Amino acid sequence: MTDFHACPSHAATYLVRAAVTAPSVHNTQPWLFVEEGRDRSIEVHADIARRLLLTDPFGREMVISCAAALFNIRLAMRHLGINPAVQPFPHPGSPTFVARVGWGPYRRPTLDEERMYGALSRRHTVRGPFRTESVPVPLIDALREHAAAEGATLHFMDAGNDRRRLAEVVRAAEGVHRTDPGHIAEQARWVRPARRPRYDGVPAYASVANPDSTLLPGRDYAGRSRIFPSPARRWSRRTGLIVVLSTDRDDRPDWLRAGQALERILLYAATENVMAAFHTQPLELPRLRARVRETLTAGEFPQMILRLGYAPSIRPVPRRPASEVLSVGDTRAVAGAR
Ligand SMILES: Cc1cc2nc3c(=O)[nH]c(=O)nc-3n(C[C@H](O)[C@H](O)[C@H](O)COP(=O)(O)O)c2cc1C
Repeated sequence: MTDFHACPSHAATYLVRAAVTAPSVHNTQPWLFVEEGRDRSIEVHADIARRLLLTDPFGREMVISCAAALFNIRLAMRHLGINPAVQPFPHPGSPTFVARVGWGPYRRPTLDEERMYGALSRRHTVRGPFRTESVPVPLIDALREHAAAEGATLHFMDAGNDRRRLAEVVRAAEGVHRTDPGHIAEQARWVRPARRPRYDGVPAYASVANPDSTLLPGRDYAGRSRIFPSPARRWSRRTGLIVVLSTDRDDRPDWLRAGQALERILLYAATENVMAAFHTQPLELPRLRARVRETLTAGEFPQMILRLGYAPSIRPVPRRPASEVLSVGDTRAVAGAR
């Protein structure tokens, strides 16, 4: 039985503190962790009560978010010099049981792993224009390799045509989201006004720039497109480097690969002070996602759309504490709780 009163070990709390720094769609933090009593492995579960029913009907973004948290658990183990033993989706009958991670044999962490671990608390999502400096070519090559190491592909939209094509698709998607009452209501449920701060959701202060001020429109969390219908300027140079992360197929194991690849490239970029802005709106509308797949990712399934660059300012957003998302027990009880 899951025992919510039993105390998790310090080791599990350490891992979960790293896990919850992961990005998640609308900062929903759709995860639960269980320290498995017998061998002290740690389980990652998706919390379907936090899935976005309309925006994410199949749970793709929910699994990607959990997978980013899983990558952080792996990294925190590597920081201790332990090899994580990951079993993806260990119970075929329980699709929300995302992974079990056991403590494997000792192996000294690499320099890159240590640098990425150090970047966990420095990585934050950016909304708005970047500074004008370009992302250096050696970093671009390294990011491509990091994505490939997790079984995903990073496509760089460096040609003007590709940037324009993607901008059109993101604009079309954001246009749908801004006028669809269901999407407006679902997003509004995750926006936190300054006077009512919470440990989840996107605080209004995290979205001060006009969402239309770069080539790719951002989600309008703070309703600024209604207050300022057209931005003073749409910055092309300050849009940054646009990338699309894709996988061969589009099932839950692929979403798990995509989420781990996402966090790996975000953290590696953060070691070089490069941060990311997210523009996943077209991937939430089948017709527009198909267009990205056909025209920009050579038939692979697009999983994330990002801009990368140097942020003029950083606005960290809160997380639920480890004590709220970590319990001690066994899998049957968690699966039974759903
Ligand atoms: C699957 C996924 C989709 C996301 N889509 C967007 C997006 O379209 N627009 C956006 O501003 N942020 C997006 N984000 C970023 C989250 O809003 C962000 O991770 C969350 O608010 C926590 O903030 P942090 O990344 O600064 O820790 C997405 C994150 C994930 C994992």
